[in-house]
Amino acid sequence: MSAQNMSRADVIIRNGTVIDGTGNPGVTADVAVSNDRITAVGDLGAMSASVEIDAQGQVVAPGFIDVHTHDDRYLFTHPEMAPKASQGVTSVVVGNCGFSLAPWKNYGPEQFPFSLWQDRDELKFASAGDFLDGLDRTPPALNAAMLVGHSSLRYGAMVDLNRPATDREIAAMQDSLRDCIDEGAMGMSSGLFYPPAQNAKTEEVTAIASVMAAKDGIYTAHIRDEADKVMDALEEVAQIGRDAGVQVVISHHKAAGLNNFGKTKQTLPLIEKFQGEQRLTLDVYPYHASSTMILPHLISRAQKVLITWSKPRPDIRGRDLAELAVEMDMTPTEAAEALCPGGAIYFQLDEEDVQRVLSYPGAMIGSDGIPDDLYPHPRLWGTFPRVLGHYARDLGLMPLEAAVHRMTGLPAAQFGFTDRGEVRPGAYADLVIFDPKTISDAATFEAPTAPAIGIDRVFVNGQTVWQQGRPISYRPGERPGRAIRLGDTSRGS
Ligand code: ZN
Ligand code: CU
Repeated sequence: MSAQNMSRADVIIRNGTVIDGTGNPGVTADVAVSNDRITAVGDLGAMSASVEIDAQGQVVAPGFIDVHTHDDRYLFTHPEMAPKASQGVTSVVVGNCGFSLAPWKNYGPEQFPFSLWQDRDELKFASAGDFLDGLDRTPPALNAAMLVGHSSLRYGAMVDLNRPATDREIAAMQDSLRDCIDEGAMGMSSGLFYPPAQNAKTEEVTAIASVMAAKDGIYTAHIRDEADKVMDALEEVAQIGRDAGVQVVISHHKAAGLNNFGKTKQTLPLIEKFQGEQRLTLDVYPYHASSTMILPHLISRAQKVLITWSKPRPDIRGRDLAELAVEMDMTPTEAAEALCPGGAIYFQLDEEDVQRVLSYPGAMIGSDGIPDDLYPHPRLWGTFPRVLGHYARDLGLMPLEAAVHRMTGLPAAQFGFTDRGEVRPGAYADLVIFDPKTISDAATFEAPTAPAIGIDRVFVNGQTVWQQGRPISYRPGERPGRAIRLGDTSRGS
């Protein structure tokens, strides 16, 4: 690059503490951006730019990567992506827990989260390629990569899901997944815990996942049991990874239920053992409550349950199930049955377990937020600032640099997002400027949709998408987010 080009940039962010996403200590430096890339990092006193930003006292970090989302539909219905952009998130991975919007087949309308995705005909993408092309045609504010849901594949290949797949059905799912991977899907997710996949055998998942090995697709798993049989369920997905020859991500790792409090003292050493033998990582969200559909059998294992929505009782939002049960003159489990289908938040995790998993060096951060939920779990709006503020700064669980690494450089390497997740010359200008003294989550269980505090400005591919508490408005088709395809990536080992 000529000296003249070097002296000029579109944007220079000056005097911030640059935390570059690798885990290295923060350093005071300027960051220059031209077009969609970071062009220089250092003392850029000799350079000028059309937009000069003073970031004195602020941190400049790579935009956060939310590796575990259910934003498939929301990217199209709410392209400003406020719940995520407001946290400094610049890329999301959709299609987790076995459920993806594409490839669209005849989904079971009662099955969460399909139950939240039914009403938009124009969002029925026949293939992964259609979905990714759709993102490029009407780009959202953030970048997005997709996984193909194993349950979605089952809906495409099977009529009766309450049994293991036959060899023919497995072959059909393999063909479908192979096409999706060729079209740029990052990999496959499974949700063996959920009814559409509960009757799938280990061998079924292994056979399907194995078609990804040639292209090194990733396998993410909401495991069969996160409670009493969590150890067996971890063994199962590790086995799938080894036999299929693919990298595994354990989704939202936890030990659920009152009688499993403390069990991450056993699960994390097991995960560490697997990591010595195969490529396997995990993600986690920073709350001691989980959220999913109303499942009556989960009621008794939680300290408290909030009903987030209920089809038979649309008037209910964020109500305590114990109180509702009294009003309905039923036991809590009976009341839960009467409120199905619906969504709920379960206070069923040990805070010490949550902290133990967050502290685990290889843990990535994933929100698991459900944006289509009318009364969502606060993780949707609060996950990333909560890790940085509450856990890293206030509780001192880890240095800020380590927290940033878990949500930037680490996931970019695991998912093979080339040139993302780091602040360095040549990388994409996905950046967040935040105040390390004030950053915190504002979303609570009582008021779950509040933007985070302390996020000053967020850039995606060099364009501002969030500034001072508001999304930047764009005309449709002009937002800077991009589809991230497996083809354009190179994964480190
Ligand atoms: Zn899940
Ligand atoms: Cu999930």
